[in-house]
Amino acid sequence: MTTAKTPRIDGERLLRRLNDLGAIGAIDGGGCARLALTDADKAGRDLVCGWMRELGLSVSIDAIGNAVGIRAGRRPGPPVMAGSHIDTVRTGGRYDGNLGVLAGLEVVAALNDAGVETEHPLAVAFFTNEEGSRFAPDMMGSLVFTGELPLATALDTVGIDGARVGDELARIGYAGDTPVPHPAPRAYVELHIEQGPVLDHESVEIGVVESVQGISWTEIEIGGVSNHAGTTPMSLRCDPGWAAGSIIAFVRELARELGGSQVATVGRIEFFPNLINVVPERAVLTVDLRNTDETTLQQAEARLHAHLDALRAQEKVTITTRRLARFEPVPFAPEMTALIERHAKAQGRSTRRLPSGAGHDAQILAAVCPAAMIFVPSVEGISHNVREFTPPDQLEAGANVLLSVLCELAGADA
Ligand code: GLV
Ligand code: MN
Ligand code: MN
Repeated sequence: MTTAKTPRIDGERLLRRLNDLGAIGAIDGGGCARLALTDADKAGRDLVCGWMRELGLSVSIDAIGNAVGIRAGRRPGPPVMAGSHIDTVRTGGRYDGNLGVLAGLEVVAALNDAGVETEHPLAVAFFTNEEGSRFAPDMMGSLVFTGELPLATALDTVGIDGARVGDELARIGYAGDTPVPHPAPRAYVELHIEQGPVLDHESVEIGVVESVQGISWTEIEIGGVSNHAGTTPMSLRCDPGWAAGSIIAFVRELARELGGSQVATVGRIEFFPNLINVVPERAVLTVDLRNTDETTLQQAEARLHAHLDALRAQEKVTITTRRLARFEPVPFAPEMTALIERHAKAQGRSTRRLPSGAGHDAQILAAVCPAAMIFVPSVEGISHNVREFTPPDQLEAGANVLLSVLCELAGADA
């Protein structure tokens, strides 16, 4: 005999939590700066772990700082997991990652309110350093969770500010004692904002994510001869600044020529000594290349390296490269994609299948269990920007799809 009611997402409660978390590390324009393992990240973690405990979840922190809150099922075994991340880029919005975690908590709250039990345990997780802006690679926590990245390698990673992951984890009190890697969850579902323009432009309510595109991150260090900007003839220069500019122009042209889904970005650049009247001695920049097609992505990488060879010969600079991250395109399990589509349609939502342009923890979890993603629209496709926005009714619609998908996967009371 069951007295369970039908669980329902409370959109206002979800929004309240998004706003409360968004107030931590808040920056002008309504966004957030909670770079991984900073004091702001710690404060965000404390808030979310507190909510997990209030909801009755049993919370564990693992050795890379991933947090997992478990709601027991009728029988033991691997949980059905919802998750994402709560770290942000330095100029982030309040939805990227946070939505997936807080919608997972809202699902738990809805089940608790309705008195619904599940056959299998249900887990809500947030993974450490998904963004990768401070410490590369991105998706670091989920990579360690699944065993794809050794813990020691992750802990020894040094960030853009010279800090070490292991030291920062210990400093903020999130070097937990749950061992990694974890046993595989039964399934993993991540609700996320699209972060691109497709759903918004086409007025589609729910994106059914079929795959995540491949990602290639390279740091390039160029060495030359620092000299006086006024006295050094152009013909005698060995200028890392010029070489860096040439790389920026080259990757834009490369993406144009390759066409299709190819994108290319130089997002970080530093000159040393960075003075107006000094030919720089050194330049460091990053190149982010992405494509849904692995072969084309490899072509893009090869052409970038050929360009670096040409620069070495032409400007007599030294160039060294360091691979910061490399992920092949990941297809999601077709039965999971179909499940999300079926539940969204059953709720009367318009749907569209699409690939993800951004990297996500779900693509890492996909290696160990059936994984899937639900997208909701991003207004004007703006993300990694304080202007990131998704209207409340669309957040609620996405959370309701997450709720019913998790209920089916976890075997909730009918
Ligand atoms: C993570 O947000 C990425 O796709 O860079
Ligand atoms: Mn994200
Ligand atoms: Mn992001």
